[in-house]
Amino acid sequence: MKNILLACIAAIICFVAVGQTSFIGINKAVDPFHYEIVKTKVFSKASVASAHPLASMVGAEIMKQGGNAFDAAIAVQLTLAVVYSNAGNIGGGGFLVGRKTNGQTIAIDYREEAPGQATRDMYLDKNGNAITNLSVNGHLASGVPGTIAGLFETYKYAKLPFKQLIQPAIDIAEFGYVITEREANSLNANKEAFIKNSTQITALVKDAKWKAGDTLIQKDLAETLKRIRDNGQKGFYEGKTAELIVEEMKRGNGIISLDDLKSYKAKTRTALQFKYKGYDIIGMPPPSSGGIIIWQMMKMIEDKPVASYGFNSTKAVQLMIETERRAYADRAEHLGDPDYYKVPLKTMISDAYIKNRMKDYDSTKASVSKNITAGIIKEHDETTHLSIIDKDGNMVSVTTTLNGGYGSKTVVGGAGFLLNNEMDDFSVKPGVANMYGAVGGEANSIQPGKRMLSSMTPTLVLKNNQPYIVCGTPGGTTIPTSVYQTLVNMLEFNMSPADAINSPKFHHQWLPDIVRVEKDFNPAVRKELTAMGYNIVEANGWCRLEVIKLLPKNASATLRVEVAADKRGDDSVAGY
Ligand code: GLY
Repeated sequence: MKNILLACIAAIICFVAVGQTSFIGINKAVDPFHYEIVKTKVFSKASVASAHPLASMVGAEIMKQGGNAFDAAIAVQLTLAVVYSNAGNIGGGGFLVGRKTNGQTIAIDYREEAPGQATRDMYLDKNGNAITNLSVNGHLASGVPGTIAGLFETYKYAKLPFKQLIQPAIDIAEFGYVITEREANSLNANKEAFIKNSTQITALVKDAKWKAGDTLIQKDLAETLKRIRDNGQKGFYEGKTAELIVEEMKRGNGIISLDDLKSYKAKTRTALQFKYKGYDIIGMPPPSSGGIIIWQMMKMIEDKPVASYGFNSTKAVQLMIETERRAYADRAEHLGDPDYYKVPLKTMISDAYIKNRMKDYDSTKASVSKNITAGIIKEHDETTHLSIIDKDGNMVSVTTTLNGGYGSKTVVGGAGFLLNNEMDDFSVKPGVANMYGAVGGEANSIQPGKRMLSSMTPTLVLKNNQPYIVCGTPGGTTIPTSVYQTLVNMLEFNMSPADAINSPKFHHQWLPDIVRVEKDFNPAVRKELTAMGYNIVEANGWCRLEVIKLLPKNASATLRVEVAADKRGDDSVAGY
C-alpha cells in the first residue's frame, strides 16, 4: 500500500513536471492508477476497442483533441507497447487496413522480415530435423521488427504532431501504471522465460510475485520511446536503439544486423475488397493470409440461406467448418510473401475457383482433410487487435503482434522492449507444424528479407458504400475463422457486436483434421457433429475480438457507434 502511495506521489510530481499539456496522470483524462474495464457501449462520435483500457482511453482522448482514427491508431499501438507487453509492441510487426471518409482504402504491411543472414534451413539440425524451439524462443527467433516503420507510414494519414501521439506512452512507461490481475498472473507465469531468454535485467521481472494493483515502471522503454519521439523512425532503426538491438543479438547469438534495421521499410499494399450479399468487405492481402481466407470462406457460403439455418445450428456450423477446411488447405500450399513467391491471387479469389472448391461438399458428413488437397493452380496466440472509428467516419483496423505471448521473451538490454518470435511463422521445413499446428511449403519458406506468412485479419465492412463494421482479433491461425464467424453472426444472424464476439467459436484449419470448440459450445450440436464424423476437441477461448458497428443516426448525432471488446481478456472500449 505504502509503495502504491509513493508511486502515486512520484507520478503526480513527475506528470506535473512533464508539462501542462500531458493528459496522462492522476485525476487527468487518462489516469494510469485508476481505470476500469468497459466491455460495450454506444458512443455518438468516435470510439476505440483494444486489449487494454488505458490504450483505448488514450485513443479516444487523442480523437477528442482533434486527431483522426489514424492518429488514434498510432497512439493506441504505442500505448499497448507499454501497458500490454504480451502482444502490444515496438519489437514486432502488424497490418493496418483503413478507409478514409473520401472512400480511399489503405493497407499497410509492417510485417517483420527474415534478417539478411537468415537461411532456408536455419532451424534444421544436421540430420534435417526441425529444432522448433530455436524459432520460438530467444534471439534467433526474431524477425526484423516492422512496427515503428508502420506507425510512420500510418502517420501520412494523421493530423496531429507525432510527439503528441507518442507522449502518452512515454509518460506511462516512465511513471508507471497499475497492472491487472490477469497481467500479474501472465508476468509471473513468464518470469523464468524472460530470465532465460534475456541477457540483461528487465523491468518485467521482479523478485517477489507480481500482484494486481502493483505499479509497473519501464524506464528503458521510456528512453527508447523518447528517441523515437525526437528522431522519428531513425530513433528506432538507427542510432542508439539499433545499436542496443544489435548488441543484444551478439550477446545471444542472434543475427539481426544494423543493415537489416536500416533497410527495413513498411509497404503500402492494395487492400482486398469483395462483395458479400450487398456488403463490401475490405481486408489485408498477402503476406497476410487473412483477407484471402475471409474472401474464400464468405464466398463459399454466399449462395446458401445461412440465416435460415440459425445461429450455431448444426447445419450452419457444419457448412462453415467445411469452408474453413478448404480455405486453410489453400493457405498451406499457395500463400507466402508476394514479393518472393508468385501467389496465385487472381485464381484463388475468382468465383469459379471458389465454387469449384465446394463441389464435393456434403451436408451430411465430414470431409476428410487428407482427401482435400489444395486447389490446383502458419499464434497462442498472442497478437492484439484494435478497432477505431472517428467522428468523420474514418475507419482503422489494426492487428499487431510479437507472435507468441511476449514474443521471443527476449528483452533488448537497455532498450526495454521485447522482440518478436515471428520467424516461427515461416515454414521451417515443408510439412513440419509451427506453434499453431499449421503447415506450409515452398511459398512460405525462409529467405533473407522475405516476410513470413501471417493469419492477421484486420477487416472493414461497408453497407451501401458507407462505414458499417470495424473488426479483428488475435489468435494465430484461428484469427480468420473468428473474424469469419463474427461477420456471419452480424451480417446473417443480426447479432449485436457483443453477442457476435462473445458467442462460442469453432475452428478448423485443414490440418490437423480436428474441430476446436470453445467450452461453452452447444453440446447438442457437438454430439451431432461427432455423429457426422467430426473429431471435436474442446479448447480454452482463443480469440479476443474488438468490434465497432455503425448504428442508424439519430437527430442529434453525427454518428452512432456500438462498440464491444471481447469478454475473454482485459479488453475495453472508450469513446465520446
Ligand atoms: N504471428 C501470427 C500471425 O501473424 O498470424
